[in-house]
Amino acid sequence: MEGDESADADPHMTTVSRHHFRDDSDQDFSISIIENMKEDYGLFVWPCSVVLAEYVWQQRLRFSGATVVELGAGTSLPGLVAAKVGADVTLTDESNRLEVLDNMKRVIELNKLQCSVLGLTWGVWDASTFSLQPKFILGADVLYDAKAFDDLFATVTYLLQNSPSSVFITTYHNRSGHHLIEFLMVKWGLKCVKLLDAFSFMPSCKASGLSGNLQLAEIVLDGERR
Ligand SMILES: C[S@@+](CC[C@H](N)C(=O)[O-])C[C@H]1O[C@@H](n2cnc3c(N)ncnc32)[C@H](O)[C@@H]1O
Repeated sequence: MEGDESADADPHMTTVSRHHFRDDSDQDFSISIIENMKEDYGLFVWPCSVVLAEYVWQQRLRFSGATVVELGAGTSLPGLVAAKVGADVTLTDESNRLEVLDNMKRVIELNKLQCSVLGLTWGVWDASTFSLQPKFILGADVLYDAKAFDDLFATVTYLLQNSPSSVFITTYHNRSGHHLIEFLMVKWGLKCVKLLDAFSFMPSCKASGLSGNLQLAEIVLDGERR
């Protein structure tokens, strides 16, 4: 991906990719991510995560000073950008995926940021989940396995209810038109307040490295059904 990836490889298939973010005055910062090509899902920067991270950067004034929880964060690029722009961030992934949670701690340190790391399996509640009150819930490429949708949305809906005026911002591959999002919104008493095609806001240098129909949705509780 032009301007986004520079990788140092080692024999264990670990690479470090660098992701750049620029503002209008050409000020620039980068986030370094440790990826492991041998592992699946959680140790790879998925395109949805590049899109969500760019959105967080472009919307940085909303995120500065806000509380953020990233679900299924994996290599955590969006959450790390949120931390970089001044949010109070908790990065989460499945509780039993210790290699993913350990990798989060390494990337936080590598980027000299401060974030909390928490094992949070969708649809499972413990004391640490109850104490989360995020203003923003982030989820990049978390809508890929239909068997997990109910657990994911049970957690998302709980967090939205636990924190007034909060919003779930998710990026996903739109493979079924908008039927999937519409179905999930009705089922969980939610509503989509913003739906964007990723290519409508990605800078051209990043968009050229993306393919497929990538969407970003902002989702809130449906007030009429509360
Ligand atoms: C396709 S990866 C996306 C990773 C990252 N957000 C990205 O876009 O690069 C899906 C992520 O969801 C996590 N995940 C899958 N099932 C989960 C569950 N039941 N509870 C919590 N996290 C889960 C995986 O461990 C993985 O990190």
